Amino acid sequence: MDGEAARGIGLIGAGAMAQALLHGLLAGGAVPPQRLAVTNRGDPGRLGQAARLGVYTTGDKADICRRSDVILLAVKPKDAFEACRQLRPHLEERHLVVSVAAALRRSQLQAELGGHPRVVRAMPNTGSVIGASATAIARGGDPDDARAAMGLLSALGPVEMVEEEQFDAVTALSGSGPAYIYLLIEAMIAAGVAEGLPEDVARALTLQTALGAARMAAESGRQPEELRRQITSPGGTTLAALQVLEGHKMRQTVGLAVRRAKERAAEIGRTLDAAQG
Ligand SMILES: NC(=O)c1ccc[n+]([C@@H]2O[C@H](COP(=O)([O-])OP(=O)(O)OC[C@H]3O[C@@H](n4cnc5c(N)ncnc54)[C@H](OP(=O)(O)O)[C@@H]3O)[C@@H](O)[C@H]2O)c1
Repeated sequence: MDGEAARGIGLIGAGAMAQALLHGLLAGGAVPPQRLAVTNRGDPGRLGQAARLGVYTTGDKADICRRSDVILLAVKPKDAFEACRQLRPHLEERHLVVSVAAALRRSQLQAELGGHPRVVRAMPNTGSVIGASATAIARGGDPDDARAAMGLLSALGPVEMVEEEQFDAVTALSGSGPAYIYLLIEAMIAAGVAEGLPEDVARALTLQTALGAARMAAESGRQPEELRRQITSPGGTTLAALQVLEGHKMRQTVGLAVRRAKERAAEIGRTLDAAQG
């Protein structure tokens, strides 16, 4: 990480994911603001948001490339080819391009970057803002580049290395995953209110329950199934609730949702194939 932190890092994009990456990289001094530079397509409000974090902002990709050894590509998949074509004339051998765009294959990025060899595909999530991202990096290309990307992105939270063929599954599970958990949290708060609790109490109890359960699953060394069984007494309230959830096929529903997100990532990938020609 120290070696990576010493390099300039240029962000292409100033949207939700770029802001999450910025906050995560800056948190705890992992990367000093003077090492970070941000550009976008032209929205002054979003670039201003980045500037308020103390990082350098510019509308010029040549400027970003001059200042950076690592380029983090955080644009929507549909905008990525254009952004790559704009970067292409300014790339040199020293540049490592790390893309966090969903559905965009490494080979597609490389083609649009004029055959640039140093490209790594990564998928963080919005937990990056608080250093709690679940991030995956795809194997492929130079292992040293993948390791360098891993070193940099580990400032945002734990990183897993997977095959690129598994990336649509990663996108469906952890890329989109925070939204599934938020939906469950929303539903639990609403249920608490429906059963007579004040909204602020229902919210506080639900959030701490989610946090405590996630931490127990991560830190107790026990499987989620074992933790669930431990708090499910025969004839008790938890069992009664779980029977309703199982009866309404909660597991299958979650499975179908993740499958659909994975299919959608593949569909977006095919659209990009067609756009690339
Ligand atoms: N949001 C998530 O939870 C999440 C999780 C994992 C990965 N991702 C990936 O992150 C990427 C960005 O998503 P997002 O939610 O941050 O999108 P977003 O909020 O729409 O932001 C996209 C950014 O890209 C900029 N942009 C577009 N074309 C550009 C160009 N040619 N040159 C420079 N900047 C350009 C836009 O500029 P303007 O500001 O001028 O519009 C904007 O700042 C996506 O590919 C997504 O798959 C997102």
